[in-house]
Amino acid sequence: FQNAVVFSGIQPTGVPHLGNYLGAMRQWKRLQDDAHEDDKLLYSIVDLHAITMPQDAEILRRRRREMLAALIAIGLDPERSILFYQSSVSQHAELMWILSCTASMGYLSRMTQWKSKLQMSNKGEDLDDAAAARLKLGLFSYPVLQAADILVHGATHVPVGHDQKQHLEFARECATNFNHKFANVLVPPETVLTNSPRVMSLMNPNNKMSKSAPNEKSRILIMAEPQEIHQRIMGAVTDFENVVTYEPRRRPGVANLLELLAQCSPNYVAPAVLAEKMAGASLGELKQQVSRAVTAELGGIRDRYHDLLSRHGGKYLDEIEEAGAEKARKSAEETMRAVRYAVGL
Ligand code: ADP
Ligand code: NA
Repeated sequence: FQNAVVFSGIQPTGVPHLGNYLGAMRQWKRLQDDAHEDDKLLYSIVDLHAITMPQDAEILRRRRREMLAALIAIGLDPERSILFYQSSVSQHAELMWILSCTASMGYLSRMTQWKSKLQMSNKGEDLDDAAAARLKLGLFSYPVLQAADILVHGATHVPVGHDQKQHLEFARECATNFNHKFANVLVPPETVLTNSPRVMSLMNPNNKMSKSAPNEKSRILIMAEPQEIHQRIMGAVTDFENVVTYEPRRRPGVANLLELLAQCSPNYVAPAVLAEKMAGASLGELKQQVSRAVTAELGGIRDRYHDLLSRHGGKYLDEIEEAGAEKARKSAEETMRAVRYAVGL
């Protein structure tokens, strides 16, 4: 695409794992590397989204910084991609408020993610006063902030996983509503669905790999030492058939390993084809190959990450924070000037 504006965000809720990397971050880098000169890329560390769940202030501050280092360590270039903390650009929150004034409560309450949060907090019962008090407004209106993130930069392309499809549709709806009510100012964005599969937990291949799973052996952090990567892959739960076949439904653990091998090989070969090539091999041999491929794919990230965090006593990242915020504010203010005028502010 030409003159594209790419926007995506990630929460600073912990060190990213292989799922975040293959499912989101690596896609961002690819978009950066393939981008046309006139394209604009913005990648935000969405700290305002993170506080919809309780956070410790010191830890959140540290994690924002670590996420910034992680994004650069995986190959995002702060000269090419605008990297910034969402809260450094107050226009995001400002546009959210304005969009809230035309967003439909009904639409928001039908969102799957909200419904599942609602169900979790109240075990499927109707909301009583106590349950309603536990639920926070921010969690409900989260998609409006997400819409503002995208629309405030006039993003044309938003790479997201399948779980975010509905929120993107809502963002388009927010843009259309606004344009209809006020003036044609906001750009309805396109979704760029990432085609990478979900990376599954190494301990329970029926769940996705996640930051929050209690068993840390279920995930591989992108900063892991080669030795640790090896141990986690070798310890991955599979099954008791010691042959390699690609049967995602019947053998999800083995299929997950084959997916990892496919994703982490320099030239992509479909997992089913990899399985055919490995006919006769044992699961141990498969794990050895996966371990080597993942180690190679993550090679260098760890060293770059630690170097970035300590470079010039942290001053290097301070400067990137400042420069990114400056550029993102400029980008957002362009839209906001037109938005305020259209509304009468
Ligand atoms: P987590 O679920 O680990 O807290 P986030 O919700 O912060 O991760 O997700 C950040 C990005 O990483 C999102 O784009 C999400 O789709 C992607 N992602 C998270 N977990 C996985 C996974 N296991 N496989 C593929 N992509 C993932
Ligand atoms: Na999540």
